[in-house]
This record gives sequence, C-alpha cells and structure tokens, in this order.
Amino acid sequence: MAKYTVVTMPGDGIGEVVLSEALRVLEAVGFDAEYVHGDIGWEFWKSEGNALPERTVRLLEEHKLGLFGAITSKPKPAAAAELDSSLMGKGYTYYSPIVTMRQLFNLDICIRPCRSFKGNPLNFIRRTADGGFEEPAVDAVIFRQNTEGMYAGLEWTNPPEPVLAALATHPKFEKFADTSPEDLAISTRVFTRPACRRILRAGFEYARKHGYESVTVCEKPNVLRETSGMMEEEAKAIHEDYPEIQLWSTNIDAQMMWLTKNPEAYGVIVAGNLFGDIVSDAFAGLVGGLGFAASGNIGDDVAVFEPTHGSAPKYAELDPPIVNPIAMMLTAAMMLDHVGEMDAAKRIRQAVASVVEEGRVRVYDMMRLVGAPDVIARGAASTHEMTDAIIAKLGVPAAV
Ligand code: NAI
Ligand code: MG
Repeated sequence: MAKYTVVTMPGDGIGEVVLSEALRVLEAVGFDAEYVHGDIGWEFWKSEGNALPERTVRLLEEHKLGLFGAITSKPKPAAAAELDSSLMGKGYTYYSPIVTMRQLFNLDICIRPCRSFKGNPLNFIRRTADGGFEEPAVDAVIFRQNTEGMYAGLEWTNPPEPVLAALATHPKFEKFADTSPEDLAISTRVFTRPACRRILRAGFEYARKHGYESVTVCEKPNVLRETSGMMEEEAKAIHEDYPEIQLWSTNIDAQMMWLTKNPEAYGVIVAGNLFGDIVSDAFAGLVGGLGFAASGNIGDDVAVFEPTHGSAPKYAELDPPIVNPIAMMLTAAMMLDHVGEMDAAKRIRQAVASVVEEGRVRVYDMMRLVGAPDVIARGAASTHEMTDAIIAKLGVPAAV
C-alpha cells in the first residue's frame, strides 16, 4: 500500500493539463502515493447542478489531502443557461467549488509563497541611480485568512429590516439613514479572534521553521479599527512567543507602494482575506505572475493545494498545450512539504530553479509572448517539454 493517498481534482480547462504534468513530476521524485480522482468543476455544475459533488467531498473527508487544478466559473446568467435542461428551474444555484471547499473543511489558512527564481525574465527589476538596474531577490510568503472578512458572503442589497435596525444603533449610520434600502448595498467584514490567532500563529510558526526574520501584519488598523485592530492586537500577543522574530506592521495601501520599493525586505506577511488576496497577487506579479504562483489551503484536518491561476479556457484545447506548468509543480512541492516530504519538495524546487536559470527551456509566458498556437514555432517550449526539462533535473532520489 502506498504511504499517501491524494485526491486529485483536475477540474476544467488547463487544470487537467497542469495536474497531469505535476503527477509526472511527483512520480519522478519518488513520492509514494496513490491517487484517487475527484470530480469537480463546470461539467458537474451542468450535469448535476453541483460543481463540487458530494462524492468528492467524501473523498476529501476520507483522505484529507487534495491536489486541485483549476475550475471554470461563469456569471449567474451563463450558469443558469448552461444547466442541463432537466435541472433547469429546480432551484439549483452555482457556488464556486473552491470557495465551498474552504468553507466546508474550514481551510482557513491560505499560504502563498512568492519567491523569485534567478534568471526568470519575468522577475521584477528596479532602476538604480546610475541608470542601471537591479533585480531584488523576492522571498515573501503570504498567509491569508481564507474564510472570514470581506469574503464571508455576509452581504445584502436592500437589507432586511432587522439588519437596518441593528445598523441604526451605530451613530455612523445616521448619514445613510435617509437612503432608501433598495439603494443600499452592504458587505460586512467580520473577523473572529480565534481565526486571527490561527493565521498569525501559522505565520509565526512558518517563519520560525524556515528562518524568516520578520512577520509583517498587513492590514489597515488606523481606519478599520475593529477588524484590523483585532489582528494587530493578537499579533502583538502571539509575538511574545517568538522573540527571535521581528513583528512589523504595514497598511495595505502603503504595502502596495513598498512592493516596488523594497520587496526583498519582507518575509512572512499575514493578512485578512481581502487584503491577503490583494497582497499575494501583487507579490506574485513580482516573481513571474500566474505561471509561478502556488498556494495551499490548510485546515485542521484537510488540506488542498492549488495553483493560483484559473482554467484559462482559451488555452485549454491547444495541442500541444503551451501553458506554464511551474505553478502546479510548486503547488505539488508545497503539498510535499505539508506531509513532511521536505527533501522531495526541495528537489522539485531546485529542479525548477535550475531549468529557469539555464534559460534554455522556456514556456511562452517566460518569453513574454502572447499565448497562441504559433508560440511553439517561435521557440517556446510546450507544457510537456517544460515538465520533461524539470524531470531531467530532479536527479537521483536519495537512497531510503
Ligand atoms: P486564468 O488564471 O484562467 O487566466 C488568465 C490569464 O493568465 C490567461 O489567459 C493566461 O494568459 C494566463 N495564465 C493563466 N494560467 C497560466 C499558466 N499556467 N501559464 C501561462 N499563462 C497562464 O483567469 P481568467 O481568464 O480570469 O479566468 C478563466 C476561468 O478560470 C474563469 O472561469 C474563472 O472563473 C476561473 N478561475 C478559476 C480559479 C481557480 O480555479 N482557483 C482562479 C481564477 C479564475
Ligand atoms: Mg485572487
């Protein structure tokens, strides 16, 4: 019997392409796992009215570990129109399967490492005073609270009377009191102390384990006094357990400015859901963007790993596929770290690093080409060729 069982959920579009490439790499690195397939995505919305069928939820419950590609989701009218005719008008509502998964399994800790690989033509560069340029080595790991805050779904247009009545108890509501409820849209931002503590603790632990010097809380406590204020307050308390690590605090807006001034200064960054979403995409842009952005969604019991990118439908049908599999490879490496297979994870990252640094094999996004079938003729590697190059660099597994 294999040591690990992984629920693989390729999903839609390029999700299928990159996941199968990651499995080749996991096999080449000697990861002792068996894989069970989990249905997920648009096809299942259309045919069953549920993009995350119950049987897939059960598989995750049982095996606790998921590797996910990407899904397609579409706006409400398109979702309704594409539903199988036998299901239409029966009250089915589309919910994003990844958001549902995060809520169902309380995958409240989202980790998004953003590290630049030497030689990546997509790395951020900065002008120097003498007219030259320099390339800061970015190594930031964003810890995003994944289940609360602005994305908890607690919102209304035309709020019901009890909500209006509750809001009316706040003196600041006075200026909205004359607006008719149909013209009022409200999205709430709820933080809970336990969730703040969990994301902060996870960030500090990671910093300690991986030798980062600082943890930065990236919020906006001068304006969002209650929610960001709670995160800051808890950060100070938890920091007492990690005296060797510096605790910094930035405002999300200022952080976007520091991003291009001194991104190399930051290590672990902790933020709520919305600001974590923003700051992680921003840092990902400095190190190559979607083709390089990996993430893990981690709960107490279940963990699901996924590249940050979506299903890129316009590239899904290309043969050979051209998309960058590196985000998915780095995602697989995060999964290996999570289960304690650090050596294998490191070998994958080193293999990626050496292919990127050599610069002989580059997929289209690394050549700054617009994705199209002709990129191969223009010298871009296909998805398979990039994977082959990475596998060739993996070296011989350490003897066990
Ligand atoms: P997307 O991430 O699928 O693609 C945006 C663009 O980024 C692509 O057109 C392509 O130029 C580039 N790109 C993405 N992945 C790449 C890769 N591995 N290599 C090279 N280039 C890559 O986002 P988009 O176009 O906004 O959404 C497409 C579909 O994906 C939508 O249905 C959306 O809802 C869904 N989506 C799903 C996500 C998920 O599964 N977690 C996340 C984001 C979007
Ligand atoms: Mg995002």
